[in-house]
Amino acid sequence: MKENYILLKDNIKIPRLGQGTWFIGDNKAREKDEIESIRLGIELGMTLIDTAEMYGSGASERLIGKAIKGYDRDKLFLVSKVYPHNAGRNNIFNSCENSLKRLNVDYLDLYLLHWRGSIPLKETVECMEELISQGKIKSWGVSNFDTDDMEELWSVAKGSHCVINQVLYHLGSRGIEYDLIPWMKEHNVPVMAYSPLAQGGSLRRGLLKNKAVQEIAQNRGISPVQVLLAFVLSQDNMIAIPKSGKPEHTRENAEVANITLKEEELKMLDKEFPAPNYKTPLDII
Ligand SMILES: NC(=O)c1ccc[n+]([C@@H]2O[C@H](COP(=O)([O-])OP(=O)(O)OC[C@H]3O[C@@H](n4cnc5c(N)ncnc54)[C@H](OP(=O)(O)O)[C@@H]3O)[C@@H](O)[C@H]2O)c1
Repeated sequence: MKENYILLKDNIKIPRLGQGTWFIGDNKAREKDEIESIRLGIELGMTLIDTAEMYGSGASERLIGKAIKGYDRDKLFLVSKVYPHNAGRNNIFNSCENSLKRLNVDYLDLYLLHWRGSIPLKETVECMEELISQGKIKSWGVSNFDTDDMEELWSVAKGSHCVINQVLYHLGSRGIEYDLIPWMKEHNVPVMAYSPLAQGGSLRRGLLKNKAVQEIAQNRGISPVQVLLAFVLSQDNMIAIPKSGKPEHTRENAEVANITLKEEELKMLDKEFPAPNYKTPLDII
């Protein structure tokens, strides 16, 4: 990985490698491991933690609240997301407050619209800006927005204050390289890649067993999953949020901060998993 941080356009530093938490907090029997994982991730520099009011109906945020207890709040970068149906004047302030309560903090570093719904973007943007003025959030962004959605957002007053678009991106799903990544680069909006490990390889069969992935892993003495994560982080202007509820996996993921794929390795991966040279619809989970 080249740099550990990206500077957002509002001059806030965001870590390039963080921790996802979908399904974390769903099962009491896994709680101890999950808390240990998150804390280890923080110790190893993965201070960005991504969650959402949707995850386990608040269970993920509650578990993170327990895990981050005792850490200096200002050293963490907490991201949460509002449901599209809550992203209007009637509900967003309550939603945000509830996320803060569950996390047991008094501000979010970043608040995202989880995906587009029926509430007009203009209303959501106004509310996000109000949340900033109230000190409840530092910045806001969106998730699952394709290029046309971004363009529409930019046409709304203050829509261009959006600092991040969180979208699916992994070695087996490179459609955004065709038009969304270039658009975001041009508008100085980093990509936050979700499912960067293709959900441990399960989103695309054969990914971890692929000969190029295996060969690179063997030559470098790393795991195929680390190759996947290193590929995502080889891109400029890209943040990745792998999820793990197991400390040994979290340790592996954190190690990728020190792994930079070489040109020839990237070429091998390109050959096996080329980015499409035509527009494809945004991949969404
Ligand atoms: N905005 C959105 O709509 C959206 C959608 C999906 C995800 N997200 C966010 O992005 C985060 C990451 O995406 P994701 O959870 O879908 O998938 P992911 O991070 O690509 O993969 C997670 C899976 O990989 C396994 N894993 C993690 N590290 C591993 C390692 N070193 N070796 C082997 N297996 C490993 C995990 O199992 P263990 O837990 O057992 O380690 C888990 O099953 C989410 O948690 C969430 O925060 C956002």
